[in-house]
Parts: sequence; structure tokens; C-alpha cells
Amino acid sequence: MKRFLVIVLLAVAAGPGADIALASEAGDTSPVVLITGANRGLGLELARQYGEAGWHVIGTARKPDAAADLKETGARIVQLDVTDADSVASMATELDGQPIDLLINNAGVLDRNGAFPEVDIDTVEWILDVNVLGPMRVTQALLPNLSAGDRKTIVGISSGLGSLAQNESGGLYGYRESKVALNMFTRSLANELRDDGFIVVAMNPGWVQTDMGGENAALTPEQSISGVRSVIDSLTTEDTGTFRIHNGGTNPW
Ligand SMILES: NC(=O)c1ccc[n+]([C@@H]2O[C@H](COP(=O)([O-])OP(=O)(O)OC[C@H]3O[C@@H](n4cnc5c(N)ncnc54)[C@H](OP(=O)(O)O)[C@@H]3O)[C@@H](O)[C@H]2O)c1
Repeated sequence: MKRFLVIVLLAVAAGPGADIALASEAGDTSPVVLITGANRGLGLELARQYGEAGWHVIGTARKPDAAADLKETGARIVQLDVTDADSVASMATELDGQPIDLLINNAGVLDRNGAFPEVDIDTVEWILDVNVLGPMRVTQALLPNLSAGDRKTIVGISSGLGSLAQNESGGLYGYRESKVALNMFTRSLANELRDDGFIVVAMNPGWVQTDMGGENAALTPEQSISGVRSVIDSLTTEDTGTFRIHNGGTNPW
């Protein structure tokens, strides 16, 4: 009876995060993952697969009311626009006190701009805002939640197009730079948080059939994400600061 009362009081105090907080209090040891941009594409597939694997999934969407596919996965949906500091702050308030084991900074944008003389710098600024500043804002806001989690893992969904070593064609201005910067953020944060037991990695999911990747892409979302998940599952603190590929390999920086 006393334990029941404690759980109820904790649930009331925890507010909107109570369902998950209560689940862990009641002895449910399922890990918690937060995925940004989970309403479509790779984010949606991550939400599906982690949900099916028994994780508690928090999926973010810019427009939760329009996130029917995400809702169907059973994920808890939180509103988030990664370019909007107020939206990030509201998410952090909503999740205050909620431990998070794994953060996947997945939300991203690409613009197929052409040759450099025609590149629209405002578009490049938007890409950098979403793909670089977005993960930085979100990670900063959720560090207390991640510190309270058991796994302390942060994954940035990067791209082979963000590899300096593999760039032999150029183009995709803005996108390529954004993923290089995300990689450097990953590496710096990994170094800073190493002694706290964090695992921070960049992940190349391959070329995947989503709105971004297009229908000619090599992999289905199912194939890419089952690989991504098994790489994440295998990570240890020894792997922090690395750039991994969905197939288990290591991507050259
Ligand atoms: N597909 C590939 O071949 C491929 C390859 C390498 C890397 N990646 C990376 O994988 C990640 C997911 O890509 P995807 O293929 O799944 O792309 P996608 O199908 O275009 O989905 C992008 C997701 O990001 C969200 N998003 C965009 N701007 C946002 C913002 N300002 N705030 C919050 N969410 C925002 C979108 O939400 P809305 O629906 O609201 O726009 C959507 O949920 C990206 O980081 C991408 O760079 C993809």
C-alpha cells in the first residue's frame, strides 16, 4: 500500500511524463528512446522498430495532429521544431524528470541546389539551422534527461555525404557542410562527456527510400533501420566519438 502511494504521488508530481515514469517505478525496465522527426521517413521507422522491440518511444513531430502514422506505432508524441528555441524549451519542460536512455537526432533537411554560383545562401542557412543547430539545441535541452538514463547514448543521423574523405563529386551545398558540422559536434561532445560514461556517435544510415532519399535509393527504411539499431545495440563506451555505418562498418571522416 505504501509503495502504491509513493508511485501515485510520483506520477502526479511528474505531470505529462507520468506514464513512462510510472512504468519504470513499477519495475518496468524498458529503455526510453527519443527520436526527432519521427512522423515520417527514417524517424518513423525508428519509432516502429524500437516500439516493436519493447522500448518506450517518444517521437517528436512539428505537427503532432498530422502525425497519424507515428500515433499508430503507439509512441508518445511531443511537439518539436528543432529550429525554434521556444519549441525546444517546451519539450524540455514537458519531459522534465523523464530519464532518456537514447537520443536520436534524426530530423533533417536536404535541398538539391545546383552549381555553386546559383546556390541560395538563405537555403544553406536553413539547412544548417535544422541539421546542425537543431541537434545542438535538442541535445543541450535534454542533457539532464540523458544523464538520468542508464544508457547515456546520443546518436546523430549523419550521412556519407558528410565525409570529407569520400567527397569526390562536390555539390549539395549546405547539406554536405551540415553533416560535417554535425560530425564535429559529435566528436567534440563525445570527448567532453567521455568521463561521464556517455556514448556519442554519428551514424550513416545508407541511401534510403524516403522522401529525402527518393524511390531509387538502395535500401528500404526497414533494412537501414534494422542495421542502425543493431549497431546502436552493440555500442560500448569504447565506441564514443566514432562515425558508424548502418552495416556495422566505420565511416571515414
Ligand atoms: N534518406 C536517405 O537516403 C538519407 C541518407 C543519409 C542520411 N539521411 C538523414 O536521415 C535523417 C532522416 O532523413 P529522412 O530520409 O527520413 O528524411 P525525410 O523523409 O525527409 O524526413 C525528415 C524528417 O525531419 C523532420 N524535420 C524537418 N525539419 C524539421 C524541423 N525544423 N524540426 C523538426 N523536424 C523537422 C520532418 O518533419 P516534417 O514532416 O514536419 O517536415 C521529417 O519528420 C536526416 O537527418 C537525413 O539527413 C537520410
